[in-house]
Amino acid sequence: MRTQVVIIGAGPAGLALGRLLEQAGVDAMILERKSAQYVLGRIRAGVLEWGSVELLDRAGAGARMHAEGLVHHGTALSFDGDRMHIDFTDLVGKQVMVYGQTEVTRDLMDIRQGTTIYEAEDVQLHDFDGQPWVSYTKDGTTHRIDCDFIAGCDGYHGVSRASLPASAVSTFERVYPFGWLGVLVDKPPVDPELIYAHHARGFALCSQRSPTRSRYYVQVAADEKVEAWSDTRFWDELRRRLDPQTAERIETGPSIEKSIAPLRSFVAEPLRFGRLFLAGDAAHIVPPTGAKGLNLALGDVALLGDALMEALQEGSDAGIDSYSVRALQRIWKAERFSWWMTSLLHVFPETGDFGRRIQRAEFDYLMGSRAARQSLAENYVGLP
Ligand code: FAD
Ligand code: DHB
Repeated sequence: MRTQVVIIGAGPAGLALGRLLEQAGVDAMILERKSAQYVLGRIRAGVLEWGSVELLDRAGAGARMHAEGLVHHGTALSFDGDRMHIDFTDLVGKQVMVYGQTEVTRDLMDIRQGTTIYEAEDVQLHDFDGQPWVSYTKDGTTHRIDCDFIAGCDGYHGVSRASLPASAVSTFERVYPFGWLGVLVDKPPVDPELIYAHHARGFALCSQRSPTRSRYYVQVAADEKVEAWSDTRFWDELRRRLDPQTAERIETGPSIEKSIAPLRSFVAEPLRFGRLFLAGDAAHIVPPTGAKGLNLALGDVALLGDALMEALQEGSDAGIDSYSVRALQRIWKAERFSWWMTSLLHVFPETGDFGRRIQRAEFDYLMGSRAARQSLAENYVGLP
């Protein structure tokens, strides 16, 4: 078998790249380790920057997002119950779209015309310094696909980055001593906007998926087990971390999904190795606090898609040569912002009372300074 681009991974990065390439008439095949159902069952990000909205529009996958997504003009931050509003429209003239990653993935799957092979086992990358090819096993038979380029969009635990010699990659990492316990519930959101809350007991987030479905998170220790959290325990803990008026208004119910995500900052450099490119979580992870993970992944593939089209259709290597440097500039800015939001809003056991006083000073500075709020808003809605 032969195709122009083999994409490893059918998460949002792989599916979006596949779509951008097929729109341009480039042949691309996607290999995904899991089933389509499994991929759709993962509950992850919920906030799209406007650049991501425009990318999905460009991919022809935006219709349901515009019909069902919720445009948010701002967000709330609270610190020990004191609340502040960050008005994106007033501060930077931009908005975000609340629309779940599951829905983005479904829309991209629905619109795809090219081949996606789900449940492709033992994917292996070969000769990406020369004439690349990829092998995989499906239903007991091993297949070979020859190609011009390989796009590694297979997430943090994927095979693409793992196929590289350690000497070829530099990695930068910070692991946080806590995770997020998330609950999805079919109840209306407590507030029209998201609420990011710092409390002495830990961080909490009130998010949403639709006018009838909410997503809530609480900071938990890194080694916490989801089985230890009954719904009642979760709701009690969430209420304790919010201001009393919000706590009272929360509509609780049986969770329809409950999971713990670890928090990590991670970047691999560079993003190009001969004819192999890394994009999305395969190359970088951000802690979820700034809602950047999915947006960064889509930003990468927008650049990579154009670069591959230029190389395959115009014979120009300019885009693929500059992909790594250009993508990393944006990635590091999002890493910084996600780390900063995480540092402001979580309880860090090791920094003690001094750390909390500094966090409070940062919050008070934001409350008193339009310039500081503007910087937060500019990063949250997405840098160019
Ligand atoms: P992924 O979505 O990870 O997709 C990679 C795909 O590659 C997967 O489908 C995987 O099955 C496949 N794959 C892996 N290995 C192989 C292989 N060997 N062969 C073939 N296929 C393979 N971001 C936010 O902004 N907010 C959040 O609340 C948030 N919560 C998260 C919770 C969790 C548990 C995780 C893991 C991430 C979360 N993120 C969040 C981050 C966000 O979801 C990711 O940044 C986004 O999914 C990145 O998309 P991607 O396509 O690069 O990677
Ligand atoms: C959601 C996740 C985030 O990381 C975030 O910052 C905002 C919302 C969510 O899952 O809804």
